[in-house]
Amino acid sequence: MKYGFIGCGNMGGAIAKALAKATTEFAITDRSGRAIALAAEIPCGYLSTEEIVQRCDRIFLGVKPHMMQDVLAPIRSILAERKPLLITMAAGIEIRQIMQFAGCDLPVIRIMPNTPVAIGKGVTQYCCNDLVTQEMLRDFLEDMRFSGILDPLEERLIDAGSALAGSGPAYVYMFIEALADGAVACGIPRAKAMEYAAATVIGAGELVLASGQHPGALKDAVCSPGGSTISGIRALENHGFRAAAMEAVIATYERNKELGK
Ligand SMILES: NC(=O)c1ccc[n+]([C@@H]2O[C@H](COP(=O)([O-])OP(=O)(O)OC[C@H]3O[C@@H](n4cnc5c(N)ncnc54)[C@H](OP(=O)(O)O)[C@@H]3O)[C@@H](O)[C@H]2O)c1
Repeated sequence: MKYGFIGCGNMGGAIAKALAKATTEFAITDRSGRAIALAAEIPCGYLSTEEIVQRCDRIFLGVKPHMMQDVLAPIRSILAERKPLLITMAAGIEIRQIMQFAGCDLPVIRIMPNTPVAIGKGVTQYCCNDLVTQEMLRDFLEDMRFSGILDPLEERLIDAGSALAGSGPAYVYMFIEALADGAVACGIPRAKAMEYAAATVIGAGELVLASGQHPGALKDAVCSPGGSTISGIRALENHGFRAAAMEAVIATYERNKELGK
């Protein structure tokens, strides 16, 4: 079988959904059996960890960073024999640590995705070791083409990229919720407020990408002199909005660095 997933929760599940649009030749596994329902929904196979390692040529590692060592320890001998391509998405864990936990040298692609990959709108940064051939990488990127943006990034920068794109959806969800709360406070019904807030974030983000303009210039274009939007901007500045967003990314980056230790 082409791909297997060891661990298929929030992030692994989102990738499995994107992968399924390109190939159905894969199986997933987890610890509790919760992923059986996901396998039926996708649809794809559900196997045991041992079966995945025995039968799959490319294996996504979708477990939490602190579990990685314990998950790889019992399958070391099969990994050494088969040398499959490992694809790790674990925050903070370097490729050299994955090989250390696997107990042998083998091809490893390290990806840092985010959950919008499930609907083809994700951002995934990637890097790989020297054992990954150009053909392997090309084929992998081809199979991931329905996940959204795929961008190569040096491994030394992955923790920083992850602090923005990997964790960023959580910050954006808070922003959407807060915008909607503000609108509800002003009398807009909750459902409409949520839709307006989410669509506004999408539209503004897409305009940044499509126009290539600096977000500051786009912001200026919304602010009429003496108008209402600039009053809202003043409120955001007074409450430390920019500093809070910067600190969120930096705090996440620092925590990513700790996870690998
Ligand atoms: N969530 C994100 O937005 C995000 C973004 C970028 C990167 N990541 C990375 O993605 C990885 C997974 O995070 P997550 O948020 O998806 O976590 P999660 O939802 O908790 O999923 C973890 C998965 O691992 C499975 N698992 C745990 N122990 C296992 C074992 N011994 N054998 C087989 N499967 C096992 C779990 O199964 P059970 O449910 O049965 O316990 C579950 O399917 C992490 O390394 C994280 O750093 C996450």
